[in-house]
Amino acid sequence: MIKACLFDLDGVIVDTAKYHYIAWKELAAELGFEFTEKDNERLKGVSRMASLDILLSIGGITKTEKEKDLLAQRKNERYVSLISQMEADEILPGAKEFLTACRKTGIATALGSASKNAMIILERLKLNDLFDVIIDGTHTTKAKPDPEVFLLGAAALRVEPEHCVVFEDAEAGIEAALAAGMKCVGIGSSEVLGKANLVIAGLHQMSLEKLKDLQ
Ligand code: BG6
Ligand code: MG
Repeated sequence: MIKACLFDLDGVIVDTAKYHYIAWKELAAELGFEFTEKDNERLKGVSRMASLDILLSIGGITKTEKEKDLLAQRKNERYVSLISQMEADEILPGAKEFLTACRKTGIATALGSASKNAMIILERLKLNDLFDVIIDGTHTTKAKPDPEVFLLGAAALRVEPEHCVVFEDAEAGIEAALAAGMKCVGIGSSEVLGKANLVIAGLHQMSLEKLKDLQ
């Protein structure tokens, strides 16, 4: 029986990949190389520092830990300035509706995001009240595909992992959900998210009936 749904934020609830992309692309340009949309795909679900390492490897650049901290900070300042202007129409189709439907039927909801900026987005778009529990990058020590973020969410909800379903758009997130012993719905293409129990294009394609079928 499904008792809780846990949601990734970036790419599942809101369309923020475009803002990460702008901020990383500008940083790459400052460092003297091009960062493409295809490169950006590799950063989905990946933590900020691991993303920077990938970006630097694309540019063939080596930096000290101290320099990397400063670069990540610069990228984050730009990203925060962009998400601070987000509007309600950037909430992905069906997200609010599905979260509301879950809560109406007594299914608990949690956020399980790698982002340390999750609260800025939730507050700006007034989404906080849709989640019973919020776990983000400020609560975790291990990045996806480690299951920590989802296990913390389930524990806070007091629901056993086998009664939880995770919604994720990144391969590392699907692996984290499965490693936590949870069911997983992939948001995106089945080519990338083939390990998920079900793959849909977005939460607008999700329903309580489909949730029941996952049991
Ligand atoms: C994930 C995104 O949700 O959060 C990644 O998919 C991002 O692209 C990661 O790097 C960390 O986000 P932040 O906001 O803490 O830099
Ligand atoms: Mg994501």
